[in-house]
Amino acid sequence: MKPNSRKVLAGVLILGVIVAATWVFRYWVVVGARKLAGELPDVEWADLPGISHAGLSLRKLAGSGDAYVAVQNPYSSAADRAQGKQVFGAICSKCHGRDAVGGVGPPLVGRALTHGDSVWAMYRTINRGVPGTPMAGDFVSRKEAWQVIAYLEGRRNTGGVARSDGDSSARAATGPAATVSFRDLKDSSNAVGSWMLPGGSYDGQRYSRDAQIDRGNVSRLQVQWIHQFPTTQTPNETTPVVVGDYLYATHPPGTVYALNVRTGEQIWQYSKAMPPDLRLCCIAANRGVSVVGGRVYFATLDAHLIALDATSGRLLWDQKVADYDQGYSITAAPLPVEGLVITGIGGGEFPIRGFISAYDAATGALRWRFNTVPEPGQPGSETWGADSWKTGGASTWGSGAYDADLGLLYWGVGTPAPDFDASARPGDNLYSSCELALDVKTGRLVWYFQFMPHEDHDWDSTQTPSLIDVSENGTTRKLLAVANRNGFFYVLDRQTGHFVRGGPFIKQTWALGLSPSGQPIRAANTSPTPQGNFVVPSVNGATNWWPSAYNPVAGLYYVNAEEGGGTFYLNATRVKAGKPYVAGVTTFGESFATFVRALDPATARVRWERREATVSSAPRGGLLTTAGGLLFGSDGQVLYALDAATGQQLWSFAAGAHISAPPFTYRYLGKQVVAVVAGQDLLTFTLPEDPP
Ligand code: HEC
Repeated sequence: MKPNSRKVLAGVLILGVIVAATWVFRYWVVVGARKLAGELPDVEWADLPGISHAGLSLRKLAGSGDAYVAVQNPYSSAADRAQGKQVFGAICSKCHGRDAVGGVGPPLVGRALTHGDSVWAMYRTINRGVPGTPMAGDFVSRKEAWQVIAYLEGRRNTGGVARSDGDSSARAATGPAATVSFRDLKDSSNAVGSWMLPGGSYDGQRYSRDAQIDRGNVSRLQVQWIHQFPTTQTPNETTPVVVGDYLYATHPPGTVYALNVRTGEQIWQYSKAMPPDLRLCCIAANRGVSVVGGRVYFATLDAHLIALDATSGRLLWDQKVADYDQGYSITAAPLPVEGLVITGIGGGEFPIRGFISAYDAATGALRWRFNTVPEPGQPGSETWGADSWKTGGASTWGSGAYDADLGLLYWGVGTPAPDFDASARPGDNLYSSCELALDVKTGRLVWYFQFMPHEDHDWDSTQTPSLIDVSENGTTRKLLAVANRNGFFYVLDRQTGHFVRGGPFIKQTWALGLSPSGQPIRAANTSPTPQGNFVVPSVNGATNWWPSAYNPVAGLYYVNAEEGGGTFYLNATRVKAGKPYVAGVTTFGESFATFVRALDPATARVRWERREATVSSAPRGGLLTTAGGLLFGSDGQVLYALDAATGQQLWSFAAGAHISAPPFTYRYLGKQVVAVVAGQDLLTFTLPEDPP
């Protein structure tokens, strides 16, 4: 071989080695280039060997250039987890408490982390520390940091965790929580000063029989105590319940708090960590808990129903209601009735099929389920063209009401899916947009009333109805009253489901009126189109989830009404599991007015109104009415009390934060308390002591 060709061969060999090496280390090369280009400021050179330990992470990092998404834990075997647990116990638990439930340092399980939840964010926090705090960056080696994360990840995914206050004198002061029976709940609906159910009572009236605070003295209300929940951007929409010395409230996205009713101090908290890929149409709301049998029940955005010990917050059982990754979620408080805990389901913006489910209160076992979209062969299935029933929506995300004498559970149903495109689901689409009456023991359908067949504006009929007994022509009639998002107020016979009367409570434009049987007479050209159609009300509806109230003494039904329209545009959509199934978009009109309106069930007409300062589609808080002749509500940041008969304002309080939760009231140690969550603060008000 000539010296020349030897050189060429050597050259080719060297080049080959370089090419092969570049290929083998290609992800190193790309990541190195990204680092040199300043694209990975949070990643240090010394982190790379650790990251590359798991192979895939480096490749993903080369691809995306985003460590928070790409990096997986390179040390996550069972042995690593065990090692991590040991390190945590030796070093971290000093500050973060045994099992990471918190101490001097914050809890690291059962809540969203301030400095980020992804494994990379946790690694970065542990390895670099939090400057200016006791959280130093040199407690452990890089590898140990990964192992501790493996241990924490295991703990974070086990569900939730209960935590008592570090030095809880509140708990010592309260003793064990009182055990409430189903009988107690039934009786409490008529008791003075009780607020043990999510809406105060089974009848959906949000009417308190307590008259201690009345028209004459309400102007003297003053703050009793304030409890601050953690800061978060999600509005708090909770209505707490009160049992003995305990007040139970929720905080978004998935925490329950038990507070001492006397002082507002925390007794315990329980958090369920939410998966990072929740499917939500709207905000990450949680509207409250229910309590019975020494247990606290709440339902979660990832569609679980959970029972906690009422005294300690310890997890008793955790039942999956539906698959969150299909689009199911729960935001309302569950309703405890006759040995059962009943929940509806949200997710109407996804290709789901709605239902109402009842679980055994003691064990969490499923007792019955009513599907709000019938399947082929069942009555009502003929109202769904083709296969549209499979993805028919008809969610049930509000709460229900219960008539113990009739044994009937009343529950409103949301719109059919897809929203806006009714042509995708030929027929009336039962039982979407209905009020349902179910036999509470079996879940069997007793009657239904459909407000809007073939609905196409996303006006869910999920408002909690008020069950009202009204004397008309010398007889007492058992009626059901509800103001619907579609702008009409309905009064039904709650034994038969027959339409009694109805009428608009805002100036709506989509219907000419109601037929004698309560069916809407549609105005022409009001469906969504590709060019857009302006319709009143807007997609928000004439009212929304914020609860109405009914005062049997005043004989009036009160609703937070919105008068403003929106343009509804039709778009194409298609079914993809877990992905939004919405066939359009909407905008809000420019002129928007908001009111409290008092409706007379005897005529279905507006008796009086209060025009609010709020002139936008901002969320409202809802209403409470009392035997003191009062109506409590809110307008932006202002909590107020009106004369229930006339609407005249008697008291107001500037709470300093937007009120997105309904006021409620209870009696404690002989004193009536009115309370509301404003922003993330729970405020309570009482009358001052009389001068001696
Ligand atoms: C000397 C006390 C102390 C020790 C020891 C300690 N931490 Fe911390 N840690 C803190 C404090 C205080 C904070 C809160 C910093 C802040 O203000 O954000 C914190 C914050 C954190 C955070 C961020 C929490 C969040 O919400 O984002 C993580 C993660 C964390 N620590 C993990 C660890 C781990 C793992 C160890 C053991 C290797 C450890 N810490 C050891 C005191 C400590």
